[in-house]
Amino acid sequence: MSTTAPVRLPEHLIHPFAPAGRADPHPAYRWLRANDPVHYDAASRLWLVTGHGDCATVLRDPRFSAAQGQRERARDDALPPSMLTTDPPDHHRLRAPGALLLGPAAVRSVAAGLAADVDALVDGLPAAGRVDAVADLGRPLATAVYARLFGLPAEQLRRFEALARAASVNLDPMVPPARAALGRSAAAALTHFLDGHTRTVADTEVPLAALAADDRLSRAEMLGVLSLAVIGGWQPLAEFIGNALHLLLPDRAAVAALGRADEDAARLAVDELLRLEAPIPFTARVTTDRVELDGGVLPAGARVLAVLTAANRDPAVFADPDALHLDRSPNPHLGFGGGPHFCLAAPLVRQTAALLLPRLVRRFPALRGPAGAPDWDQCLVPRRLRALPIELGGAA
Ligand code: HEM
Repeated sequence: MSTTAPVRLPEHLIHPFAPAGRADPHPAYRWLRANDPVHYDAASRLWLVTGHGDCATVLRDPRFSAAQGQRERARDDALPPSMLTTDPPDHHRLRAPGALLLGPAAVRSVAAGLAADVDALVDGLPAAGRVDAVADLGRPLATAVYARLFGLPAEQLRRFEALARAASVNLDPMVPPARAALGRSAAAALTHFLDGHTRTVADTEVPLAALAADDRLSRAEMLGVLSLAVIGGWQPLAEFIGNALHLLLPDRAAVAALGRADEDAARLAVDELLRLEAPIPFTARVTTDRVELDGGVLPAGARVLAVLTAANRDPAVFADPDALHLDRSPNPHLGFGGGPHFCLAAPLVRQTAALLLPRLVRRFPALRGPAGAPDWDQCLVPRRLRALPIELGGAA
């Protein structure tokens, strides 16, 4: 691979960022991973790294700066620096208190409440007929999770969800400027909302109260952690449920297996669903030095995308990489990233999805997805379906 003669995708493949290529980027990524795994994309002026080993290096090696990789977005949002937009050692200072909100103890403290929320969500579905997995399952589930973490009262949930959705627009680095501007105002409104709400939960047991009382962060930094948790997490979690059901429902043996799954098996299943359709398909870094990867050489100052979704189907690491194997183990997928920025909420996401999906298929064993092509949104991040109408098929 040389920087003077960039390799081009063959004509029969659609560029994964082109409108027509977004619905199914996997053929282009498969070709890149096999033929030019460290690829300079002249259209976006980004380097696309698609092999699993090289993506893991991009995420872990200190010569790849997240601070520089995320800088444009951070400046646009006018938010204080967050853990996602800083490199070690600053990063550690901002991340450590975040564990009070999202770490294992916080997850344990909301586990029983979340299980009750999931039961209520499944109980609230009609006994038969059609629902939309995105609007009727994914979004209410994500909102319930934040209600538990933040202690949001029922009357605030609609406002919170509207702000979270609107503010998430800028997760997609290629969103048109007019929408990006709306996303920035929504992010400011979200921060204002979180600021006001946080003052109401002091001295309560909710994880947010522990974070707000911690004096390692300034108030602006604490609000930065909260905004990041909402902007970076609400929508990926909400959309993951539709993506997961889209993958799962055509495979009746997998649906039956999930219905029988215990907690550990359900978590394995969640990881496999994340591997195949990572809601966050790539993440950005900038090289601080020239770096030789297995698949090619990057110059200093290169804007790099670690293409997690391509790494997750690398045949060098995953046998039968395009197939769903719910019991795949080990499953070193990069759907939650890796290295110092590994998703702080991974235990929470695994627990939440592992609660919902088995309960859903147990209650509705004949659950079916729609016939025909999936309705993928044009949005690149998070990868998501506009809707997923599912037939409940009758409650058990
Ligand atoms: C299916 C849902 C989710 C997926 C696929 C996901 C994926 C990711 C990925 C790939 C990263 C690494 C980004 C990078 O290295 O540049 C990340 C970071 C992060 N995620 Fe998640 N995430 C999800 C849900 C959530 C939720 C629900 C929250 C919060 C409640 C959350 C909070 C965070 C935070 C705070 C970071 C930054 C960690 C750091 O920079 O040290 N995520 N997530």
